[in-house]
Amino acid sequence: LEIEMLSASTSAASSADAHALLHQRNRDGALAAPQHWNDVLETILNHRSVRGFLPNPLPDGTLELLIAAAQSASTSSNLQFWSVIAVQETERKSRLAELAGQQQFIRDAPLLLVWLADLSRLDRIAAEHQAQVDGTHYLEEFIVGIVDAALAAQSALIAAESLGLGGVYIGAMRNLPERIAAELALPPHAFAVFGMSIGYPDPARETGIKPRLPQSVVLHREQYSSAARGEAIDNYNATVREFQREQGMRAIDWTQQCFDRVKDGAALRGRDRMREALQNLGFELR
Ligand SMILES: Cc1cc2nc3c(=O)[nH]c(=O)nc-3n(C[C@H](O)[C@H](O)[C@H](O)COP(=O)(O)O)c2cc1C
Repeated sequence: LEIEMLSASTSAASSADAHALLHQRNRDGALAAPQHWNDVLETILNHRSVRGFLPNPLPDGTLELLIAAAQSASTSSNLQFWSVIAVQETERKSRLAELAGQQQFIRDAPLLLVWLADLSRLDRIAAEHQAQVDGTHYLEEFIVGIVDAALAAQSALIAAESLGLGGVYIGAMRNLPERIAAELALPPHAFAVFGMSIGYPDPARETGIKPRLPQSVVLHREQYSSAARGEAIDNYNATVREFQREQGMRAIDWTQQCFDRVKDGAALRGRDRMREALQNLGFELR
């Protein structure tokens, strides 16, 4: 029964269904009906962040299945510079929610995954082997850890969505990096890149597919084009407003949202001191 509950209810979609779903991603009518379609594409194109969860726990084995999906992602030089902490205790989830912008869904979801850029593991292995790993103190290897963690996390999220679960990333897990590290007992040279709440979506709080920028804005062919895309951006602002109306959200242009988010250091909500925080966590970033 549990397996049935978790199996994606996707049969082979008709070409019209596939085109309709594809259209949802940009809503600008620019994309032709797809020539190829399958359940993987359907899961990926169907993505929306879920912030309303049922209290139901995940079936046994689900966490391990998601981590196997995460470990199937590519990883730079097979260094596997990431780890993940699965938090399921109510009290710890609650303390982490306090530190991560008081976001209620962190408490509600049965599972919180905290994805780490983890260079500490190789430090420990190297110490046992009296090996030198001085290169891990360079900015480059920090980037490798961040990229690895993100790729692993996204594979886990897609896997979760394919099972009928939902989730959302939690960048606010970087608001107070040292306190998050203390709560999770992180060793030096490990950093919580973001969290991710996972659980069963509450059907009463279902959301739509959030439209993205037109492909003409993000897809460059052969070389980068800095040509003005004013009209496309204006159209996107209108599309986002339409989405916000449908969802009962406050209406605000996408451009204004972006400006507000990165207006100045203070707009980064505590994350303007990231270099100092990372140094405190043992990253030299040479
Ligand atoms: C790295 C990262 C951090 C995020 N942090 C948060 C967060 O702290 N709280 C939240 O509600 N959503 C967060 N999100 C979700 C984004 O707001 C969401 O992906 C975006 O608005 C697009 O919507 P969609 O995922 O529903 O398509 C985050 C997403 C990413 C990729």
